[in-house]
Amino acid sequence: MRLTVFGLGYLGLTHAVCMAELGHEVLGVEVDEAKVARLQAGDVPFYEPGLADLLTKHLDTGLLVISTSYRQAAEWGDVFFIAVGTPQKKGESAADLRYVEAVVDNLAPLVDRDVLVLGKSTVPVGTCAKLVERVRARSQGADIEIAWNPEFLREGFAIEDTLQPDRIVLGRRPSGRAEALTRELYADILRHDTPFILTDPETAELVKVSANAFLATKISFINAIAEVCEAVGADVRAVADAIGYDARIGRRYLNAGIGFGGGCLPKDIRAFMARAGELGASEALTFLREVDNVNMRRRTRMVDVVRGACHGSLLGVNVGILGAAFKPDSDDVRDSPALNVAGQLQLQGASVTVYDPKAIENSKAIFPTLSYAASADDACENADVVMVLTEWPEFVRIDPDDLSALVRTKTIVDGRLCLDRQRWSGCGWTYLT
Ligand code: UDX
Repeated sequence: MRLTVFGLGYLGLTHAVCMAELGHEVLGVEVDEAKVARLQAGDVPFYEPGLADLLTKHLDTGLLVISTSYRQAAEWGDVFFIAVGTPQKKGESAADLRYVEAVVDNLAPLVDRDVLVLGKSTVPVGTCAKLVERVRARSQGADIEIAWNPEFLREGFAIEDTLQPDRIVLGRRPSGRAEALTRELYADILRHDTPFILTDPETAELVKVSANAFLATKISFINAIAEVCEAVGADVRAVADAIGYDARIGRRYLNAGIGFGGGCLPKDIRAFMARAGELGASEALTFLREVDNVNMRRRTRMVDVVRGACHGSLLGVNVGILGAAFKPDSDDVRDSPALNVAGQLQLQGASVTVYDPKAIENSKAIFPTLSYAASADDACENADVVMVLTEWPEFVRIDPDDLSALVRTKTIVDGRLCLDRQRWSGCGWTYLT
């Protein structure tokens, strides 16, 4: 099939490349000309395992073409994906839909035949219905059907999650062609008995935000339990392991630590609360405020732990921070708990040096005043406290004895509960969480 994907960020680029991998002819449209030039040269502007290879492969096969032109897009094919960002509005909790709206506003007047628009971006419930009205007001007589097909990909596993998804969800009005076209589009995936949930657009929109709200709640749940464990000296990792054996609970996504960050969970739970408020159902989601609070408290607490280890003052203290990305296998520092903690420590007088295998450049753009090191060893030199704030495998593997000779004081703060406490303590380190 001939498909167009609007927006070549994380979601859109992965989707475009994966659709080419499925054998479709894909036009990726991106308004940022500098980004288009990089992508056309096979250069992915962010780190995602395997994506650059697949991009180059399909630029070569010719199945993927990248452009800035809406006119070219309007003529390309009959299915259009919206994969642009829906960031948090400045100074508000709600989602900013201007990029989604711009796609349909620009596309609708150019389309001269019956087409299907499939929304993939995470949007507040009711957005699809509003876009239908918007398109009706702008189209030149063509029947432009809009349906929602949310995406659940995780950074670091984006290709796998797109090509072998847990499920495919389609929210559409039954009268249209969305179901038939979507089945054709994903035929290779559906052949493997992937669950296909066919529903209305409102439900599909809610599936996505509910999934993210549940995941955020799961993390904040175990972090709330961690607070109680800390008060009594209990081991939250053992609690998570033990409750995780109950299949109804499950051990995945139950890792306590400095909490969740990234471009999705924090903004999505806030937008969900804001939307529930607009719908007169704000009480239903007040617990998400607490989920957000627990999550933010983890960051403040990390700073308190370091201050406590330094006898109550951070002034002049050297802190070596390992990890800046919001999670391993990513260079994404959007709302990164690690960088947030680094920034807070510096504001309170500590001298902070950060190392991350992939995220240094992005970190510099947000926090230019922090010091950055070229290796974990460099970051830890003369440190009074070493902190692991993103669980990259290379940090988990560090030999405490190797680090001992570099630091001023052997204090390690394990912000992701990813280190072997016994091992570090056995090598004479003060191990803190
Ligand atoms: C998330 C959802 O998982 C995905 O389905 C959705 O499409 C987009 O948002 P992503 O942001 O890539 O994906 O990251 P994810 O792996 O979910 O991690 C989010 C944050 O939670 C990270 O900061 C991570 O470190 C943290 N986390 C995750 C925990 O603190 N504990 C856990 O047990 C799991």
